[in-house]
Amino acid sequence: MLGLRPRAATALALLAGAGIVLAASAPAQAERPAVPTSLGSTQPVTSTVSPAAATTERISGADRYATSVAASLATFPGPDTPDVVYLVAGENFPDAIVAGPVAAAAGGGLLLTASRSLPRVVADELRRLDPDRIVVVGGTSAISSSVARAADAIAPVERIGGADRYATAELLVRSVFSSADTVFVATGASFPDALAAGPAAGSAGAPVLIVRGNGSRLDRTALRLLRDLGTTSVVLVGGTSVVSRGIASQLGSELGSSQVERAAGADRYATARAISESAFGTSAPRVLIASGTSFADALSISVLAARENLPLYLSLPYCAPSSVRSALGSSAITTRTLVGGPGALSPGVERLEQCRSLSSASSLWVLVNKRNGIPTSYVPSSLRRPSIPSSGSYLLRSDAAAALERMYSGVRAAGAGSVGLTSGYRPASSQAAIYNNAVRTRGQTYADLYVARPGHSEHQTGLAADLYPIGASNCGSYTCLGATRQGRWLAANSWKYGYILRYESGMTSVTGYEYESWHFRYVGETLAADYAASGRRTLEQFYGQPAAPRY
Ligand code: DAL
Ligand code: ZN
Repeated sequence: MLGLRPRAATALALLAGAGIVLAASAPAQAERPAVPTSLGSTQPVTSTVSPAAATTERISGADRYATSVAASLATFPGPDTPDVVYLVAGENFPDAIVAGPVAAAAGGGLLLTASRSLPRVVADELRRLDPDRIVVVGGTSAISSSVARAADAIAPVERIGGADRYATAELLVRSVFSSADTVFVATGASFPDALAAGPAAGSAGAPVLIVRGNGSRLDRTALRLLRDLGTTSVVLVGGTSVVSRGIASQLGSELGSSQVERAAGADRYATARAISESAFGTSAPRVLIASGTSFADALSISVLAARENLPLYLSLPYCAPSSVRSALGSSAITTRTLVGGPGALSPGVERLEQCRSLSSASSLWVLVNKRNGIPTSYVPSSLRRPSIPSSGSYLLRSDAAAALERMYSGVRAAGAGSVGLTSGYRPASSQAAIYNNAVRTRGQTYADLYVARPGHSEHQTGLAADLYPIGASNCGSYTCLGATRQGRWLAANSWKYGYILRYESGMTSVTGYEYESWHFRYVGETLAADYAASGRRTLEQFYGQPAAPRY
């Protein structure tokens, strides 16, 4: 509970049963140990950034709704609570982007809800806040009548919803702002560039307006709104691909070109940084960090950010992107508040871990699946035979081989039995032979559930090991490893050796493969520990990447 105001800690206790966390950790004591690189040498993973001076805390809940409650709790710990709370759909970003600064300007709170049911944790928070009214944002397709009725049982509900997201945005802005010198203009078509606009606009007392940003000119209604508000300057959020040059020059003619600022970077992370730094400068002592691969957590925090003047930076879920890493490592920062649990932002983000490639075949972190292939010509440069029992002459990359040798000692030392290696590195030609044989003997549907097509197998990276049990009375094949004590031990402990169980049971819709209790993937000790801490069960989800059920 370090760093929390006492009132927050009290209110926190009320919600402890809802899985909501508002936790702080002491500054890191030391940089992480060096980790092996793809070439088997070592390099420090935090070479230019030391996060040691700052305290890290998290505002998080078990899911996006509980995280929005945690954010509400941090914003309004009590006894002063807001007169109005805005309820926005947690599956639908455009309304929430606009609602954050609107709620902040109204002195109100903001909570996410599921479209079709009011989550209990959110209902409990609404009761705790005890507002005079609740504003349900969006039409009934965004938030159903039954959710509105459930909210109305807590406080009188007013719905603000137009025919589409743009109409809803206009109604929202007009409901609170009779004038606005500055307006942030963001695309309503996608969320990544607009996420950091809420805190920046909200803390300046300005609205965010979403527009059809790829048109050559603003819609008449958007232009009329800016005129009605008496707007004299705009901040265009993101590059010209999301808010067009035509719109910039139209607004330049309307307001004067010096009154049109564009906050943009090379990617969503750099854009968020540009927005935050143009609004807050570079010396804010406390910063917020939220995932840039989903929108909910960043939007949940917008009212807190606006009220306390906190810049919002975005991160990948598993490392700090280079475009924000140096900013987040600034010595001016004393507190970094991560929004979301370790599944949303892994411990690697707390450490400002440098990102490695997910696409390069030689990267320790490479994501190989049905959507992401590697060149069939790729051959790892440091293959060797691991010194453990084996059913053939199988090779692994030297870093993966050394880790497998340690894991082999580990399982034996734990008294959990023994294992051997039954496949390792496979060139694309071997993969093709295995795949074609599976298609011939079992049919293509079966083959695609168990065998990757050439260029899509982790085995070609030299980082995947198929293991079989030795001396298990209940299993004589690799396929039943999961039913043995060595298989269970490996599933629970492989992360300590840098390996993850890659194809878990029940995750076929994400990985594209049936449960493979024998297939372990080396990602390095650091990332494997973060993966275990994240609670994620697929590499795709851990990386915030799309599911890959098919080619
Ligand atoms: N059995 C896994 C999916 C592979 O062929 O790489
Ligand atoms: Zn395998």
